[in-house]
Amino acid sequence: MDMVSIIQKKKDGLELTKEEIKGFVNGYVAGDIPDYQASALLMAIYFKGLSKEETFELTDAMRYSGDTIDLSPIEGIKVDKHSTGGVGDKTTLVVAPLAAACGVPIAKMSGRGLGFTGGTVDKMESIPGFRIALEPDEFMSQVNRIGMAVIGQTAHITPADKKLYALRDVTATVDDFGLISSSIMSKKLAAGSDAIVLDVKCGDGAFMENKEDAAKLAKLMVEIGNNAGRRTVAAITEMGQPLGKAVGNSLEVIEAIETLKGRGPEDITELAERLSGIMVYLGGKAATPEEGLEMTKKALADGSGLAKLAEFIEAQGGDPKVIDNYDLFPKHTIEKELVAEESGYVEKIRARQIGLASQHTGAGRATKEDEIDLSAGIRVCRKVGDKVSKGDVLAVFYGNDEGKVSMAMNEAAKAFEIGKIKPEKPELIKEIIGL
Ligand code: URA
Repeated sequence: MDMVSIIQKKKDGLELTKEEIKGFVNGYVAGDIPDYQASALLMAIYFKGLSKEETFELTDAMRYSGDTIDLSPIEGIKVDKHSTGGVGDKTTLVVAPLAAACGVPIAKMSGRGLGFTGGTVDKMESIPGFRIALEPDEFMSQVNRIGMAVIGQTAHITPADKKLYALRDVTATVDDFGLISSSIMSKKLAAGSDAIVLDVKCGDGAFMENKEDAAKLAKLMVEIGNNAGRRTVAAITEMGQPLGKAVGNSLEVIEAIETLKGRGPEDITELAERLSGIMVYLGGKAATPEEGLEMTKKALADGSGLAKLAEFIEAQGGDPKVIDNYDLFPKHTIEKELVAEESGYVEKIRARQIGLASQHTGAGRATKEDEIDLSAGIRVCRKVGDKVSKGDVLAVFYGNDEGKVSMAMNEAAKAFEIGKIKPEKPELIKEIIGL
């Protein structure tokens, strides 16, 4: 493999062949291509871009760089849901039981949080006893038995993406459309579901800050999925402020439970219902997305979504009593309030800053090795468009370390912007692509 000429070719803006892309990916995973040459190629890709064909080939090469999961022992059309990452995004914990309660088999692999975004695996681990590592047989039979299972990402899935993502992270080459879409879709395709619903976040707390870029990324991922024979739909959704009110692991699980009890914040409820409705349709349990939405709303109203969550928690070794007794979650010893210094309307709550502040409370990790405090985090008490008076509580901070909680409050104080004119509420679901 002549890496120098491959780098040169991309640097000149030419299209790489399937063999060159495969050779690079396999050579890099095998350790035959050094980081400095891989970095140079990533930077050339960053500046010259990847064609659609190259993006498909890169996705394919990464997808088959390790194990792929065969979900055929599970009956029915398996539907996966993936978020490109946000702040306070506990949607999976609501969507998965709702879709499963409507008869869609959910066999999901989730990740941990890093930096200012959280991860479903950490959230689930705040439930006492919950096991995220299941053997493949146990995973499949649980889905056949109760309709859903969630496991952590195994080390053997898409090793090329793991290695390349780590390199992109330290070479400023993360934010490229072709690299992001191939990274996400290689994992989704390797994970084996028949259909995929993508929640592409857009705004200050997301990779894509504006709607145009989010739509471009979403369209590319939908094309990759459909090209690989998996029905794929993407929703572009708001991440200019945190989703819901809770940010931090156990706090978000409690908010997800409250949502399944019909008492959740408006935004998380609406988003979960819409995404689940699409999943129910793609899973062949409804004739239209609208019928899927109606079925989902019924599963929320009649408590079958909540019952499915309890069944799922119990099946994976967790204590289902957490549903009715939030005292069973890990405890924090510190609780501090941030109050408004002036009266007016909340104009902005910068999601990224809230995510970083939550990380400072101990709820998130800066490096993969960091231990996290599952009880720590933030409750956002006012959302964009709400009226506030001087002295009203804007947010509450939880944790077990005074220094960390104070640092979080300093960070979060910069997130809130109060103005005199009532702003428009941001549009939650901006576009749905591929339906
Ligand atoms: N999430 C991923 O899995 N990969 C990216 O490149 C960006 C976000």
